[in-house]
Amino acid sequence: MRRKLAAGNWKMNGSLAALSQLNQIARETASLDVETLICPPSLYVSEALTRVSGNQLNIGVQDCHFETSGAHTGDISASMIADLGASHVILGHSERRADHDESSEDVREKARTALAAGLTAIVCVGESEKQRLAKNTLDIIGGQLAISVPDASKAANMVIAYEPVWAIGTGRTATTAEIDEVHDFIRTRLKDRFGEEGANMTVLYGGSVKPTNAAEIFATNNVDGALVGGASLRAQDFVPIVRALAEA
Ligand code: 13P
Repeated sequence: MRRKLAAGNWKMNGSLAALSQLNQIARETASLDVETLICPPSLYVSEALTRVSGNQLNIGVQDCHFETSGAHTGDISASMIADLGASHVILGHSERRADHDESSEDVREKARTALAAGLTAIVCVGESEKQRLAKNTLDIIGGQLAISVPDASKAANMVIAYEPVWAIGTGRTATTAEIDEVHDFIRTRLKDRFGEEGANMTVLYGGSVKPTNAAEIFATNNVDGALVGGASLRAQDFVPIVRALAEA
C-alpha cells in the first residue's frame, strides 16, 4: 500500500512570524488520512518542531551534507536533523543541482547518510525545458534515478519527486499526459530495481501545484502526492491541496 504525501518546500522563504501557518495547517489537516510535511529553511526547523509537537504534521529540511560531522562550514548533517526530531530531507532539488552544482553522485551520498540516520529522503529528479524539447526527458530521469537513489532504499524511507525544471515557480504545470508518462516510467524503473519495495515507494509530482490543479494531478496514475513550493507558504493554499489528496 503506497503512502500519500503532501509535502511543502518553503525554499528560502518564511520567517518566525510565518511559522504560525504551521499551526493552521496542522489544525486544518488533522482529520485527513494523508501524510503531511513542511520543510522550512533549516534555521527555523527547531522552532517549527516545537510548534507542531503532538500533531501529525511532519517537519523536514531541504538538504544535508553527505558526511555525519566535520569541517564543513555552513553545512548541516543528517544525524543533526534526526537528533532534532525532523523526519524528512529533500535531496537533489533542481535549485540545489543548479545553484550548488550538485551531481547525482552527490545526491546519492547524501541520501545514503540520510537513510543511515533514520530519515526519509525525498530525492528530486526532473528535466530542463531544453532536455524535454530534445526528447531526452526519460533518459535524463532514468539516469538521475539510477545514480541518485541508493541501493539501501526502501518504500518506508525513500520518496521520489518528479519536478520538471520548467514547471517550477513558473505557473506552467506539466500536462497530465506528461506527468502520466514520466510517473509510469519512474514506477517501472523502481519496480525493476527494488521489486515490491519499488512498487510501494511514494512518487510525488512537483511544479506549480496549486489548489486549482491539484485534484487533476492527483487523479493521474502513479501520482501519490505533491512537493509544493509557493503554494505551501500559506495554509489557505496548502490545506486545499492536502484535502484534494485525501479525496483522490
Ligand atoms: P512551485 O510549487 O513554487 O512551482 O515549486 C515546486 C518546487 O520546486 C517544490 O520543491
